[in-house]
Amino acid sequence: MIDASQKTLEDFLNGFSNVAFFLDNRRIIQAANTPAQATFGQDTTGQNFVAIMRRPEVLRLIDDCLTNRRHAQELMALDSVLRGDFQVRASSVGESGMVVSFADQTDIRAAERMRSDFVANVSHELRSPLTSISGFIETLQGPAKDDEQAQKRFLELMKQEAGRMDRLIGDLLSLSKVESDAHVQPRSSVNIGELVTRVIAVLAQPVAKAKVNVEVTTSDTPLLVQGDEDQLNQVFLNLIENAVKYGGEGGIVSISLDQLPNAPSFRGSAVSVAVTDQGEGIARRHLPRLTERFYRVDDGRSREKGGTGLGLAIVKHIVQRHRGRLLIDSVEGEGSTFTVLLPEAD
Ligand SMILES: Nc1ncnc2c1ncn2[C@@H]1O[C@H](COP(=O)(O)OP(=O)(O)OP(=O)(O)O)[C@@H](O)[C@H]1O
Ligand SMILES: [Mg+2]
Repeated sequence: MIDASQKTLEDFLNGFSNVAFFLDNRRIIQAANTPAQATFGQDTTGQNFVAIMRRPEVLRLIDDCLTNRRHAQELMALDSVLRGDFQVRASSVGESGMVVSFADQTDIRAAERMRSDFVANVSHELRSPLTSISGFIETLQGPAKDDEQAQKRFLELMKQEAGRMDRLIGDLLSLSKVESDAHVQPRSSVNIGELVTRVIAVLAQPVAKAKVNVEVTTSDTPLLVQGDEDQLNQVFLNLIENAVKYGGEGGIVSISLDQLPNAPSFRGSAVSVAVTDQGEGIARRHLPRLTERFYRVDDGRSREKGGTGLGLAIVKHIVQRHRGRLLIDSVEGEGSTFTVLLPEAD
């Protein structure tokens, strides 16, 4: 039986959206709110708080609040029933009670960590071409001062490094633009077949250089999606460029455009674009991380090909903004298929 005062306490605690308990001054639980009951069970009332959480830091915080009748809080990493980073708060109420609450900060902390990792990565990525350029300048001023041949070679290398920095900054700007547009629904109608044809034309030079054969299969009816043309252009540019870059010289890159009338997890029909190469493929363990910023399977090889490692991160964000899906399938030694599914325009 819940008596009236207990009901009032529970109502009061339900004003907290986080897990919250009301304790008396012997740490006995007098009431638990709905999130607390969902996490720790219905029957915590009447138990000593120690019985449901033994973590010494939490108990110390509670005791500190009980002894000094003051508000105490601390950020803690918990790993029992509550798991993650929590802001634990103990606030005394009246003469002999207190509220203990647990605010889940796991996502916020993860986002903070990601942001600081990102800044560290960007700095590192920008510093490496800059370090090379400084090195070349020193060589040109010193040992190669009168060597015209060497000067030519070093200037060419400097140009390449400056190009790298330029691409990196361009990709960073794209990424930030896509992120800031994330919640804006794109409006124009885009013909995906025409767009893919244009992308292939843009890539004519690298395709010829890698002696790759690009084969396209498409349906006769136009495939239309509601989207942002520039952004969709970036998606297919990166996927097809990757297939050409990492797909192995002299191989075939096949692009298949289809209409899927009842695509799983789409309300109506979807447009599917699958880019398949015959390259060395990607080991299974790398697949989940491939769309992370700056993630490269083979650091040296990607850099050598001028890659920044931001391409697939941009692709993922753009596809998400278009309410689509990116599927990656790869067999080591045989090749990879990157498939983009986008909702078809009505
Ligand atoms: N078709 C593919 N076959 C094999 N590996 C691939 C393929 N596509 C991508 N990868 C791997 O995934 C990594 C990340 O790709 P992503 O497009 O994000 O970066 P990048 O191509 O290195 O640089 P950027 O696209 O910014 O120029 C690549 O470095 C490469 O290791
Ligand atoms: Mg790429």
